[in-house]
Parts: sequence; C-alpha cells; structure tokens
Amino acid sequence: MHTKKYGVALIGCGSIGAAHMDDIYTKNNVTIQCVCDLKEDLAQEFKDKYNAISYETDWKKAVASKETDIVIIATYPSSHLEILTECIRHGKHVVCEKPITPDKESGEKFVNLVKEHPECKVLVGHILRHNKTYQKVAQMIQDDAIGKPIVMRMAQNHHTMNWEKYLNLICDTSPIVDCGVHYIDVMRWFTGAEVKDVYGIGLKTEADVPEGKYNYGLMTARMSDGSIAYYEAGWSNTMSSDNLKEFVGPKGRIKIVYQNLRHENQEEGDLIEYYTYPDKHYESINVLCKRKPMGDQLDVLIEMIENNTSGSPTIDEVWESFRWAIKADELIKQNL
Ligand SMILES: NC(=O)c1ccc[n+]([C@@H]2O[C@H](COP(=O)([O-])OP(=O)(O)OC[C@H]3O[C@@H](n4cnc5c(N)ncnc54)[C@H](O)[C@@H]3O)[C@@H](O)[C@H]2O)c1
Repeated sequence: MHTKKYGVALIGCGSIGAAHMDDIYTKNNVTIQCVCDLKEDLAQEFKDKYNAISYETDWKKAVASKETDIVIIATYPSSHLEILTECIRHGKHVVCEKPITPDKESGEKFVNLVKEHPECKVLVGHILRHNKTYQKVAQMIQDDAIGKPIVMRMAQNHHTMNWEKYLNLICDTSPIVDCGVHYIDVMRWFTGAEVKDVYGIGLKTEADVPEGKYNYGLMTARMSDGSIAYYEAGWSNTMSSDNLKEFVGPKGRIKIVYQNLRHENQEEGDLIEYYTYPDKHYESINVLCKRKPMGDQLDVLIEMIENNTSGSPTIDEVWESFRWAIKADELIKQNL
C-alpha cells in the first residue's frame, strides 16, 4: 500500500524539539524537511543529526515552504499564537507544544483560530494522552479499580541543573500553567468529571525571579464527582526532584513509578503499583512505555488529517485544562 509522506518542519531545536525528532525522524511516512532555530549552530546540528533536508533561522520561511505539510511548534508559549497564525495562513497542519499561550486572552485567540479553520488540523501536545502508562491508569480508574471519589496527588518538581533556562521559561510562562495544563487534563481524563473550582498559592524562592513571577506553585482542584486533586510545580536550585503521581480511592490506590525511578528491572518500563482494599493485595504492573511517545502523537495528527477525527485531547479539552491553570495562576499572582 502506498503511504503518503508528510513534510515536517520543526520550529525550536531545544529539549522538547529533540524529543519530537528522536521519535519521528525514522518514520516511513515522514520527511524532516526543515529544522529551525534562532540559534543557527543549533539548527545546523539538528539538520545533521536528524537527516533534515534543510535548516533555517527564520521560521516564517519554514512555514511558507511548499514542502512543509506539518509544522511542529516547540518554542516558548509566548511565540505559539504568532506561529500558529502563520501556519493557518499557509494551510499547514500543526502539532503545538503545550501550553497553547502564556495568558488567557491569547489562549482564547489560539482556540478560536483553531475552531475557525477546520481545514488545518491542530493537535496540542498533551503527551500524557499518548503515554501507555497513563492510558492504562486512566482505564483502571474508569473501570472502578480504586472506587470513587478519588484523591489525586501529583507533583512535578525540578532540581534545576540549568537555572538560566528555567528562569527564561518562568519569565515567559508560570510553572503552574506550563506543566499544570498536563495534570489538569489528567484530572479530567481519569475521572471523567469537570473541574468545579481551583485554588493556588505560590512564591519566589530565587532572588532573580522578577517581581510578579514565581518559581514555586501549588494548586488544588475540586471535581464535579467529589474527587479532589493537588498539583505542585517547583523549579529551583534547591528543590529536590519529585515526580509523585498517586491516585487514592476507597477501594485502593494506584501509584505510577517512572522507569528511571524504579529500584530494579528498569528495562521492563514504567511500574504501576496497585493496592486494593479490603483484601490488602499488592500488585505490580509493568508497562513497556516511552516517556514521550511523540511518534504516536504525530500519528494522531495524521489520523486527524486523513480521517477528519477530532484528536486527543480535543481543542475543547485543551481549553478546559488551560483555563483552569490560568485561574490558579491568577490567584497565585494576586497574593505574591
Ligand atoms: N510536552 C512536554 O512534556 C514538554 C516538556 C518540556 C517542554 N515542553 C514545552 O515545549 C516548549 C519549549 O520548551 P523547551 O524545554 O524545549 O525549551 P528550550 O529552551 O530547550 O527550547 C526552545 C528552543 O526554541 C528556540 N526558539 C525560541 N524562539 C524561537 C523562534 N521564534 N524561532 C525559532 N526558534 C526559536 C530557542 O532558541 C530554543 O532553542 C515550551 O512550550 C514547553 O512548555 C513540553
């Protein structure tokens, strides 16, 4: 069977840009047409590493090229709306990294633009939707493995080895928005319930974080099915890394242990620790799983292009997690 080849342009050759390329550059339905970064040496390095046809420092040229079918936007959120607008003007399909934008007003514009142009398929990169471990846990909770309502305890704290990079991101987008959109999406996806309300507190613990910004944020959420959740995002030179992901219900609990945090058998993938009550039974479930399955995510976009499917998450689901993250961020900033 003939497989259509899609010309892909990557904009942003940073760490998440590399994660995209690592997982897609050998796909037989993809040609890496162009890799683009403001830093020319980085763009050139990506061209050589991923066998791209060309490299660019001007993203507008990469978007306008007739060889480009799909644009991957992997720059900071403040540039996403401008790049998306240009992609739509040229009729290109898009995978855009989360969060869609840094603030509510531009986020609304982003979502409206996507809805007004169904001819251009746009998938926002909520990579956990495509992660086999998260898919398994979602299924277990939906199949009543731990009962309801549940408590969702989630943290993504980083001991920043490259503080300058994190400081740049903090100046662009708050930690509770940058990563929080993933985990609010997880709250909605796992429970099938809506967020009813959120609260947020935070502060700056690093002297060079500008006034009005923060590097530690904690949000709580109440769901329409009675479940509750917290999400903690801290980036600092002194914070220890923490990847807690635990879901607790009346009939048991589920904890995700990432492959690199397992004490043993790391080659088996992620570990799901499952405890049930009242039988007090422990089970360990291995999931062979890529942490960032960008290729599977791109397949979802191609499915949207070829079969007019609505993607995962849909743009309405993206908006829901975004708007609640923005609300928690506003509450944090009010009290800084
Ligand atoms: N899905 C995930 O799990 C995940 C993980 C990390 C980061 N992200 C998201 O990815 C985005 C990028 O984060 P990162 O950690 O890769 O940052 P990064 O700093 O490592 O990379 C960003 C790159 O974009 C380049 N760039 C910036 N503006 C540009 C422009 N106008 N034209 C061309 N290149 C430009 C920079 O030079 C840099 O090389 C952010 O939105 C972040 O939230 C997502």
